[in-house]
Amino acid sequence: MSRLDSHIRQKIAQRACIDLAAQWLAGEPGIIVEFGLGTGRSYSHLRQRFPRHDIFCFDRLDRAHPGSRPPADHLVLGEFSQVLADPANHTRFAGQVILAHLDIGNGTPEDDVVPELILDRVHGWLKPGAIVLSDLDLSLEPAWRLDPIDPEAQVEPGARYYVYRRLPD
Ligand SMILES: C[S@@+](CC[C@H](N)C(=O)[O-])C[C@H]1O[C@@H](n2cnc3c(N)ncnc32)[C@H](O)[C@@H]1O
Repeated sequence: MSRLDSHIRQKIAQRACIDLAAQWLAGEPGIIVEFGLGTGRSYSHLRQRFPRHDIFCFDRLDRAHPGSRPPADHLVLGEFSQVLADPANHTRFAGQVILAHLDIGNGTPEDDVVPELILDRVHGWLKPGAIVLSDLDLSLEPAWRLDPIDPEAQVEPGARYYVYRRLPD
C-alpha cells in the first residue's frame, strides 16, 4: 500500500469514527476537545456533526483555514505539555468532556509519547461514557478508565483510527 493509500484510508476511518461518536453522543450534554487543530479540517467536520456543542481546540500554532478556525476563546495555543500543566485548563474542563479527538501524529518519535502525555493529563476531564478518538494507538493506564472499542464493524476493516470509551464510575 502506498503512503497515499494509507493516508486516504486513515482519513476515511477518521471521518467514520467521528460520525459514529456523533451517533453515540447525540443529545449528550458536555464539551468536545480536539488536540491537533492543524488547518481545521477535522474541526470543520466536528463542527458539522456537533452543531450545538462547544468545541475547544489545542495546538502549538494557529494555522487554521479562516473558514474552519474556532473562535479565539475556544482555541488554546501552546505545547501540549505546557498548556496541560496549567491548572486553569483543568479547572475549566474537569469532568465535562464527552469527546476528545486526538489528531496529532507527525511521523516523528514524539508520536510514541505525546498521546499518552495528553491522556495522562486530561483523563480527569472525561465524563463517564465519554469517547476518545485517536490517530495513534494508546498504551492505556488503568487510572484512565478507558476501554478500547473495535469500530471495525462500522468502519472499513483494517483502517487505522482508535476508539476508546470512558468506563462508568
Ligand atoms: C496532523 S496535524 C492535525 C490535523 C488537523 N486535525 C486537521 O484535520 O486539519 C497535527 C497537529 O498537531 C499539532 N501538534 C503535534 N504535537 C504537538 C504538541 N506536542 N503540542 C502542540 N501541538 C502539537 C501540530 O502543530 C499539528 O498542527
